[in-house]
Amino acid sequence: MAALTEDDVLKSELRWLWVVGAVVAVIFAGILYAGMAMRVNPPSNIELKDPKTLHLSGEFTEANLGASVEPNGHVTARIVATQFAFVPNCVVLPADQEVTLRFVSPDVIHGILVTGTNVNTMVVPGYVAQVHTVFRKTGDLLMPCHEFCGLGHSQMLGTVKVVPREQFRPGPDGRVACETPELNRAAPPVPAGQLPAGPPAPLQQPTLQPTLAGAAAAAAAPAATAEAAAAAASSNAPASASVAE
Ligand code: CUA
Repeated sequence: MAALTEDDVLKSELRWLWVVGAVVAVIFAGILYAGMAMRVNPPSNIELKDPKTLHLSGEFTEANLGASVEPNGHVTARIVATQFAFVPNCVVLPADQEVTLRFVSPDVIHGILVTGTNVNTMVVPGYVAQVHTVFRKTGDLLMPCHEFCGLGHSQMLGTVKVVPREQFRPGPDGRVACETPELNRAAPPVPAGQLPAGPPAPLQQPTLQPTLAGAAAAAAAPAATAEAAAAAASSNAPASASVAE
C-alpha cells in the first residue's frame, strides 16, 4: 500500500470534520426542538428553603399544602416530598391551563415525574423545586419518586388528578382536595348488587408495611434455614432443601 501523502491526511481529516460537525448539529437541533417545541426544560428556579423549618411557617405548612388558587387566579400545588410519601398524596389540578407545582423536601433528595407529561424534577433539600406546565389530558396521573431515597423508595408515589376546568371548583378558601365529593361523584356508578353503596373508597395510601414485614422475615430466615437443615438431615432429605430462600 502506497504511503499516505500530506494531502490524503488533510482530506481524511476534513471528511471527519464534516461527519462530527453533522452529528453535533443533529444533537443540538434535538435539544432545541425538545426545549422549544416540546417544552422539555430543566427547571431553572433557584429558591432557598430551610428543610429544618419549612413545616413551621410559610407556604409549606400543612394547611397550605395541596392545590390552591392564588389571589391572581393562578393555580399552584404545594407538595412536600418526604421519606417515603408525598404530602398530600394526591393533588387536583385543572386541565388546559398553566399550573405551577412547587416541591420541597425536609430530608433527602427525591425526584418526581408525572407520567405522560413533561413534569420531571429533582427535589433537593434546601431548595424549592418548581415546575410550570399545562396538563392536556384528564385523569389520575401517577407521580412516582424517581430518585432512590431509602428503603421505602419503591413505595413512594402520589397522584395528580387532572380534571376538566369546569370541574375544578375551589372552596371558599381557594383550595381543592382530591376528597372533594363532586370530583369523586363523576366516577361511573357501580352496577346494583355488585358492591354496597357508599362513599368511594379513599385512595390507598402506600405504606411501609410490606417492606418492614419483608425485613422481619429476612431477619427470621437464618433460624428457619437452620431448622430446615436439621429436619433435612434427620430425614435424609437431599441437602439442597436447606438452601431454600
Ligand atoms: Cu423519594 Cu425515592
